[in-house]
Amino acid sequence: MDNFTYNNPVKLIFGKGQVEQLKNEVPYYGKKVLLVYGGGSIKRNGLYDQVMNLLHAAGTEVFELSGVEPNPRISTVRKGVEICKNEGIEFLLAVGGGSVIDCTKVIAAGAKYDGDAWDIVTKKVIVSEALPLGTVLTLAATGSEMNRSSVITNWETNEKYGWGNPVVYPRFSILDPVNTFTVPRDQTVNGIVDIMVHTLENYFHVQRETYLQDRMLESLLLTVIETAPKLLENLESYENRATILYCGTMALNGMLSMGYNGDWATHNMEHAVSAVYDIPHGGGLAILFPNWMKHSLSANPERFKQLAVRVFAVNPEGKTAEEAGLEGIEKLRAFWRLIGAPSRLADYGIDHSKLELMADRAMARGEFGNFRKLDRNDVLDIYRASL
Ligand code: NZQ
Ligand code: ZN
Repeated sequence: MDNFTYNNPVKLIFGKGQVEQLKNEVPYYGKKVLLVYGGGSIKRNGLYDQVMNLLHAAGTEVFELSGVEPNPRISTVRKGVEICKNEGIEFLLAVGGGSVIDCTKVIAAGAKYDGDAWDIVTKKVIVSEALPLGTVLTLAATGSEMNRSSVITNWETNEKYGWGNPVVYPRFSILDPVNTFTVPRDQTVNGIVDIMVHTLENYFHVQRETYLQDRMLESLLLTVIETAPKLLENLESYENRATILYCGTMALNGMLSMGYNGDWATHNMEHAVSAVYDIPHGGGLAILFPNWMKHSLSANPERFKQLAVRVFAVNPEGKTAEEAGLEGIEKLRAFWRLIGAPSRLADYGIDHSKLELMADRAMARGEFGNFRKLDRNDVLDIYRASL
């Protein structure tokens, strides 16, 4: 196990009716609030009215930034920064999925920075302060509600990058499973895949003695595999929404990744695909991850075998580690097929015409992957296998 330091300051407020806590939480941080949300789902399901009533009851003055895109864009971030600077905003409240939260994080940091917010995303500048922010999560997927990361797209240049900074940890995040009831089936599936891939990216690392971490990651995967089909039968099941919501937060809040560095190559490759084609993140991962696995199997077949045996109940008898590992990869593919995730780039109408551009974007920060280092040729091989 590597040495590690663990610190996560996010106050997690979980369960039915917990949105009421806004009344208690928001006043600590100021009177002028910027409410950030997406394309209208919170208006359709009533959450917007509920939040507005609570913010007014808390005596705050509310400003609004709506229309944050899935795969949030720097152009929208800039609008938010302008509102913060012009209106003297003291606190930001993100109500939505990962895109809304990620956008809010950059706005919070951009509000305290004199230059263009894109400098923060490209890591040209490392900020040391940000406005405080809180979240009301509406979609189980990214873990952004309890981490310091954010992923932003520059659509003009077809770039999409992740960045992170402790100053943008949310002060609190409110997770009521009821607020995820209206997530449509396809987005529910994308979220489930994203949660599983966060867990799997963590699983593939080069440290040898991570016995507890392995078991925790395997438990999370088994829990999602058991729960997802039941949830998809009834999208309004509180129990199953709650389980998936909790899994999503735990998969990427640092609690399961102490003492090693996960691989994260597939995330980098997927961000490059989304930068060029604006596809949903979880859908892209469902297509790329099994092909990354096949490409990387030879780096440590025993690791793949362990996953196959413990999570996918593969019987290893009479099989090499590679054979058992490969069977595990096929079982993962079959599970994603069963829940309706996409399996080929062609499912999004993507062909070979922009493979080079996607590879350029993936390589923008140099070679990557902590379990297996990938160069440009590896990336192209994985994209081609995914067509
Ligand atoms: O915009 P609205 O109208 O709200 O609709 C959204 C959006 O169309 C809809 N939705 C959200 N909650 C809903 C709902 N519809 C009905 N009822 C609800 N309760 O779902 C659509 C997708 O939302 P989005 O926020 O884009 O999804 P997600 O949470 O999957 O976020 C994806 C973004 O997060 C980044 C991804 O790259 C992508 O840009 N990631 C962020 C990470 C992080 N910050 O740690 C890590 C991840 O690996 C990921 O890269
Ligand atoms: Zn992800």
